[in-house]
Amino acid sequence: NSSVVTGEEASTSSSLQAPSSFNMTERTGSVKQQLASLVKSSLQATFPDLSDVEPQVAVSAKFGDYQCNNAMGLWSKIKGSGSDFKNPISVGEGLAKNLPQSEIIESTSVARPGFVNINLSNNWISKRIKDMLVDGIQTWAPILSVKKAVVDFSSPNIAKEMHVGHLRSTIIGDTLARMFEFSDVEVLRRNHVGDWGTQFGMLIEYLFEQFPNWEDVGNQAIGDLQEFYKASKKRFDDDASFKERAQQAVVKLQGGEAKYRAAWLKICEISRSEFDLVYKRLNVSLEERGESFYNPYIPDTIKELTDKGLVEESDGARVIFLEGFNIPLIIVKSDGGYNYASTDLTALRYRLQVEQAEWIIYVTDVGQQQHFDMFFSAARKAGWLPPAKEKKFPRVSHVGFGLVLGSDGKRFRTRSSEVVRLVELLDEAKTRSKAELIQRLENNGTIGDWTDEELDKTAEAVGYGAVKYADLKNNRLTNYTFSFDQMLKNQGNTAVYLEYAHARICSIVKKSNKDISTLQQTGTITLDHPDERVLALHLIQFAEVVEEACNNLLPNVLCEYLYNLSEIFNQFYTNCRVIESPEETSRLLLCQATAIVMRQCFVLLGITPVFKL
Ligand code: ARG
Repeated sequence: NSSVVTGEEASTSSSLQAPSSFNMTERTGSVKQQLASLVKSSLQATFPDLSDVEPQVAVSAKFGDYQCNNAMGLWSKIKGSGSDFKNPISVGEGLAKNLPQSEIIESTSVARPGFVNINLSNNWISKRIKDMLVDGIQTWAPILSVKKAVVDFSSPNIAKEMHVGHLRSTIIGDTLARMFEFSDVEVLRRNHVGDWGTQFGMLIEYLFEQFPNWEDVGNQAIGDLQEFYKASKKRFDDDASFKERAQQAVVKLQGGEAKYRAAWLKICEISRSEFDLVYKRLNVSLEERGESFYNPYIPDTIKELTDKGLVEESDGARVIFLEGFNIPLIIVKSDGGYNYASTDLTALRYRLQVEQAEWIIYVTDVGQQQHFDMFFSAARKAGWLPPAKEKKFPRVSHVGFGLVLGSDGKRFRTRSSEVVRLVELLDEAKTRSKAELIQRLENNGTIGDWTDEELDKTAEAVGYGAVKYADLKNNRLTNYTFSFDQMLKNQGNTAVYLEYAHARICSIVKKSNKDISTLQQTGTITLDHPDERVLALHLIQFAEVVEEACNNLLPNVLCEYLYNLSEIFNQFYTNCRVIESPEETSRLLLCQATAIVMRQCFVLLGITPVFKL
């Protein structure tokens, strides 16, 4: 399991192994899951005839820690049926009475119109935290109903620019993959690189024309791929005979002619090494499975769809008409060529049938929504997937996201060029965060405590973390404005602030001069002060937040949790003296648990935690 962080060493590596003694089947599930299973028993005992009613458990804003909301819905089912229940309140009372004995629940109460408020037992909360301190944070991983998922993300196009949209896809996709991996889901991280478009004819022809000896000068000949792309595009647009040769080049490439294939490989290789610079900085791992990979399987897919009677002829193209869309899905163009949809249908079929994935998740900008809706719908029509409304597996989801805007409110661009060069952007994040770090350390006179390497690593962690967090904290569907000034602020909801908060907690633990790893094994936690309890309750809700973020594919839910955790910790720390208080051990353990949970949030968000700031 690569998404668990355990110790201090994690400052340099965000992918430490979980202790091998831990067996994921030992997980108990989130608090909400555990309460839901108690409510399920009560539902069965109270309403044996209504066996399909699912437990509804939610965090409560007011009267208890959690509430069960089933009574109202049940009442509307049974009223008038002559049952013993007189109103929703009495249904709630019945459900509360039939909750099985459990160490989790301290007390319940029933409130109008029929809510069952549930208070958790302090002993149980303490024990849950204590167990985590002993056995590791992976014991808090949620239990999801999916076992194997594909996350199709990043997916830039060869020789075209890798733009900010691909950066968003990379950041969001990586986080989703990390959250699933943490929850013991097998994730196939797929980079669906656009490596098979008609643009290759033009690129290859230009390469041959400009650099007859390209095999010897390869990389230098192409140099900057984006410039190379532009130049070849210009040639393509300006010269009709070049255009013709470029079109023939596509045919030769697709026919497998060796010289063309070699040039194609070269171009892909150069592109790949540029993409890898970005992945390396972001600490993102991905397996490249570009469009070309699926190409050989396309005819089979088309045949299956045709045999099933789904394919029709329209203006020379072969298309599928789909209910709810006013245009058909083209799967073979009128010139006989394949397109984006033919590849995606084939890739989906491969992922379902060969790779046996249960949930296939695609991360792209919302502009591609219609493409996904249409080929998903075609796949359902072909019987590869159950109807969407059944919410069953196998399942497909398009994780759409909004635009990145510049300070002028238009699409984000850098000063120097019409596109954003991602490597430069990340370099700038690091440079800025390093300058700010040095400035601050000089001001408070502690710069002498830092080695150059520490400064560098910290600037990277904070700078790249800031870029990621600024993206992830928003609901992904909304557009957001890219601003270094905003994201690098050390106040408010930023990665910088959160890194500080975490480092400060680590230094509190350090300052106590207690052997914290021994205390984790031997100490106990008491929750007598209200702020201790609020913190402890928030800590144990970590699992259900990850669960929700996975199930709804919304990383911002985890960011919100993390930010709230830091605020709740502040409240606790303001009101509860830690060092040399009578409750020192218990409170140090709460500090330590907070630091561990914060670190785990960072790791799931792809942010490297720092211990000193
Ligand atoms: N290469 C595409 C683009 O840059 C994204 C591919 C997303 N994945 C997919 N299976 N369609 O827009």
